[in-house]
Amino acid sequence: QPIAQFIAGLPKAELHVHLEGTLEAELKFELAARNKLDLPYADVAAMRASYVYHDLPSFLTIFYEGSEVLLHEADFRDLVYAYLKKVASQNVLYAEMFFDPQQHTDRGVPFAVVIEGLTQGRLEAERDFGIRSKLIMCFVRERSAQNAMAVFEMALPYKHLIVGLGLDSDEKDNPPAKFAEIFRRGREEGFRLTMHCDVDQLNTHEHIRQAIEVIGVERIDHGANLLDRPELIAAAREKGVFFTVCPFANEMMRPGENQSIARRMLDLGLRLTLNSDDPAYMEGKYINENMLMAHELADFGPEDFIAVSRNAFDAAWIDEDLRDELH
Ligand code: ADE
Ligand code: ZN
Repeated sequence: QPIAQFIAGLPKAELHVHLEGTLEAELKFELAARNKLDLPYADVAAMRASYVYHDLPSFLTIFYEGSEVLLHEADFRDLVYAYLKKVASQNVLYAEMFFDPQQHTDRGVPFAVVIEGLTQGRLEAERDFGIRSKLIMCFVRERSAQNAMAVFEMALPYKHLIVGLGLDSDEKDNPPAKFAEIFRRGREEGFRLTMHCDVDQLNTHEHIRQAIEVIGVERIDHGANLLDRPELIAAAREKGVFFTVCPFANEMMRPGENQSIARRMLDLGLRLTLNSDDPAYMEGKYINENMLMAHELADFGPEDFIAVSRNAFDAAWIDEDLRDELH
């Protein structure tokens, strides 16, 4: 298929991918064996067959359970290395990757183990495949602001290894404003800011407003509900907010409506990027396969993919020298 070849050859940046969501079933078995843990599945096929969900909470349950095999520095190293190796083969030149430290620290894994393992994997992937990358630390929004603040403080000694802060997990009743103080401090400490405003949640319009106007994010992850509100579209345009949209995830959250999301954003002049979210749990669809979905569902063609890819390099939190080199 010519369009698939065009997508494969396009130099890309990925800005919305959860590292824990890249943990493929094969690696999960390998880590479980290494860490002497039993998994309740006979084989990788049975494990993959268990990835059945219909909304964000049911997805998150499966996703969090899957992370429990990650215990040691080498596990985090192997996780990020495998993802970067995979997407380097898809001509991704640069990736900004989310990680959720609370998923790990709350299980007793020290913050240092997480960040040092991830950093080692990043550097080894750059050495072996030439792919550049950075980390974005996300807070798990259904946990308390105090819990988030505790992990924020754990991260401060490592802040040179983390480019930005994000907010993910269950959005319902957990508005951006709940974390206003942490994001204010984060900005002061030099972190760049983004937040998930997902497609299937109540109050998303107010959450998008808060993210843009109260928190002052540079990006919104997903964010499709903004399309319902002209005043939010205007605010996003005025502030130059970038959107990291994930076609497969949209399709899962809002079956059948996906067609119009990316297309409408692009046509409205919003700064759209296309990404994979949690590829290991989303039928193994990495960025190329998500872009192909945008072709199939929203009639994206080469010009659109070039625009999206350019947006992603513009949205990337890198210095201008690297931007010039990658663009
Ligand atoms: N954590 C991992 N993937 C997520 C998603 N798509 N939305 C919110 N939280 C997440
Ligand atoms: Zn996400």
